[in-house]
Amino acid sequence: MKIGAHQLRNGLFVAPMAGITDRPFRRIARRMGAALAVSEMISSRPELRESRKTRLRRDHAGEPGPISVQIAGSEPQMLAEAARYNAELGADIIDINMGCPAKKVCNVSAGSALLEDEPLVGRILQAVVAAVDVPVTLKIRTGPAPGRRNAVRVARIAEDAGVQALAIHGRSRADLFAGRAEYETIAEVKSRVRIPVIANGDVETPQDAKRVLEQTGADGIMVGRAAQGRPWLFRAIAHYLETGRHLPAPRAPEIGALLVEHLEGLYGLYGEEQGARVARKHIGWTVRDLPGGEAFRAEVVRIADARAQQRAVDDYFARLAA
Ligand SMILES: Cc1cc2nc3c(=O)[nH]c(=O)nc-3n(C[C@H](O)[C@H](O)[C@H](O)COP(=O)(O)O)c2cc1C
Repeated sequence: MKIGAHQLRNGLFVAPMAGITDRPFRRIARRMGAALAVSEMISSRPELRESRKTRLRRDHAGEPGPISVQIAGSEPQMLAEAARYNAELGADIIDINMGCPAKKVCNVSAGSALLEDEPLVGRILQAVVAAVDVPVTLKIRTGPAPGRRNAVRVARIAEDAGVQALAIHGRSRADLFAGRAEYETIAEVKSRVRIPVIANGDVETPQDAKRVLEQTGADGIMVGRAAQGRPWLFRAIAHYLETGRHLPAPRAPEIGALLVEHLEGLYGLYGEEQGARVARKHIGWTVRDLPGGEAFRAEVVRIADARAQQRAVDDYFARLAA
């Protein structure tokens, strides 16, 4: 699959997740088989450009390309300017967030709220595409509400505006994260546009990925929550799609080594104090299904010091290996 001039090695995408898919997470997920990892959304408001949060979110040091940066906002010119700014900083792809269900993203009506206003969607996409030389991609939900699914119309607007790929989460804005994602709307969109379509929502296993690809005819799959604490899921999905066979589950030493690498990345990006706080949820997700994982999680959340946290993780995995 190609996005603009970027030939991707497969059709597996890491879903952008604010607070989770930061640089350390993306690097590991990419190495574990994902072709592309969209950054956490960055506000288009210029006054937030130099905030610590934005600076950390746009940190791509050492990350393999292509780099896809997601911007959020509702003002066409402001989004166009944000796209230009991030492209100048090195973004290879600009992704626009029209999928986030939060009422307000950074205090403006943005994300999937924009799906209510199709003319505005068109103005935003035209402005952003005109502003940059790099490909522009779009992430949406199926529509504002289950009874008002306008993803096909939005996809057409996107294609006409020059958007080069479209990711669709199979829920409407009103669904938030309730119920299960549906794939009929994604299939319909895929049958009505020529740009690559990436199916997203509730893909948790290699079989899910295969089934959703078959049901939708989509060109790619985007995985978010199921990869939390399980970055090797991308490798497992890629292998299964290629061969029809399952890879053996990773063993504790590999999981431990990946987690330690992740922790080092978090301490390096955020500093040890914040890094250790961010790390807690990743540790919890990683050990969730391992022997004694719950007890270890309860113990490790009480540790504030990064080095003590890392030693505790090392000890836990050493006990598992013994
Ligand atoms: C904690 C969290 C943060 C998210 N942040 C973003 C974001 O910054 N931009 C975006 O487009 N979607 C965001 N999403 C939505 C995901 O990209 C994805 O569409 C959704 O989780 C469904 O996929 P999944 O079932 O594989 O998790 C977020 C989801 C979660 C759970």
